[in-house]
Amino acid sequence: MIQEPILSVHNLTVRFGTGRKAFEAVSGVSFDLFEGETLSLVGESGSGKTTIGRAIMRVHPVSTGSIRYRGQEIAAAVGTKDEKLLRQKIQMIFQDPMASLNERAKIDYIVSEGLYNFRLFASEKERRARVENALLEVGLLPEFASRFPHEFSGGQRQRIGIARALVMEPEIIIADEPISALDVSIRAQVINVLNRLKRDKSLSYLFIAHDLSVVRFISDRIAVIHRGHLVELAQAEELFSRPLHPYTRALLSAIPVPDPDAEHNRSLIVYDPSMHRYDSDPPAWSEAYPGHYVLANPAELTTWVANATPEPALSP
Ligand SMILES: Nc1ncnc2c1ncn2[C@@H]1O[C@H](COP(=O)(O)OP(=O)(O)OP(=O)(O)O)[C@@H](O)[C@H]1O
Ligand SMILES: [Mg+2]
Repeated sequence: MIQEPILSVHNLTVRFGTGRKAFEAVSGVSFDLFEGETLSLVGESGSGKTTIGRAIMRVHPVSTGSIRYRGQEIAAAVGTKDEKLLRQKIQMIFQDPMASLNERAKIDYIVSEGLYNFRLFASEKERRARVENALLEVGLLPEFASRFPHEFSGGQRQRIGIARALVMEPEIIIADEPISALDVSIRAQVINVLNRLKRDKSLSYLFIAHDLSVVRFISDRIAVIHRGHLVELAQAEELFSRPLHPYTRALLSAIPVPDPDAEHNRSLIVYDPSMHRYDSDPPAWSEAYPGHYVLANPAELTTWVANATPEPALSP
């Protein structure tokens, strides 16, 4: 069975500024997001992760390339009716729950904002019921609706942010580092809520993170981005056991391991982009193994595959 992607990004390029000051934040990025999947997008600060999320949300204009939602092109302007549907079906959760909630509004209003914007309720009673339901779904009490954001902890605030997305009944959630700003002790709480919702509502997630270790156990597939270019994409365990691109290998080498002996022997790989000889032999997005893509020129592809672990490990 060939599964159709719910979201398909092809050759996406986003530039900021014009003329000599033009800067390409995202360069020729392609990936599919399948229904019910969590695809993580991992890379260092400034690599273009949020820009990709915002392009999908249609906040940033796309310079070139295409973004399709269920086969329909959404990178350019769409009709009013489709616009309304997209604003509902694709939601984003933000990094900093301390900054992303309007301090002067009650939770009831914050969670309802999208409903008000698109008149998505028939009666006041229905709106209130939907807000209460969304709060319950993220593990908060319905009576919290009458309180203000400052009364909540970071983890609770992030769950309010999730409720605000959820109330719209989305199909795709772009979660932009939803746990980075939280204490380690409450990160699991938010991850659990996201995982449960994904299961119960068959949501699809584009999960943005800095760190490969954070996404290992929550992702179906992982894409690695470096300076606006996707460099590798594979099933999560495949990426961990058979990384090909030197940047992915560098990121993996930076993850501490719990075993003290192994930790002692861990050697940090430093990635040097000048190692590539791309002037004479440019790279292409290549399928090295089924479903495992890497940005490489032909010579690199041969070498990296030859040096790769023969078979991926069965389990971590
Ligand atoms: N509106 C804008 N105008 C000009 N440049 C921008 C704009 N938004 C982002 N950029 C630049 O584009 C690049 C990618 O930014 P982006 O926010 O997508 O990175 P990121 O991977 O999300 O980083 P972080 O992990 O720090 O959130 C950065 O160099 C950033 O300065
Ligand atoms: Mg960002």
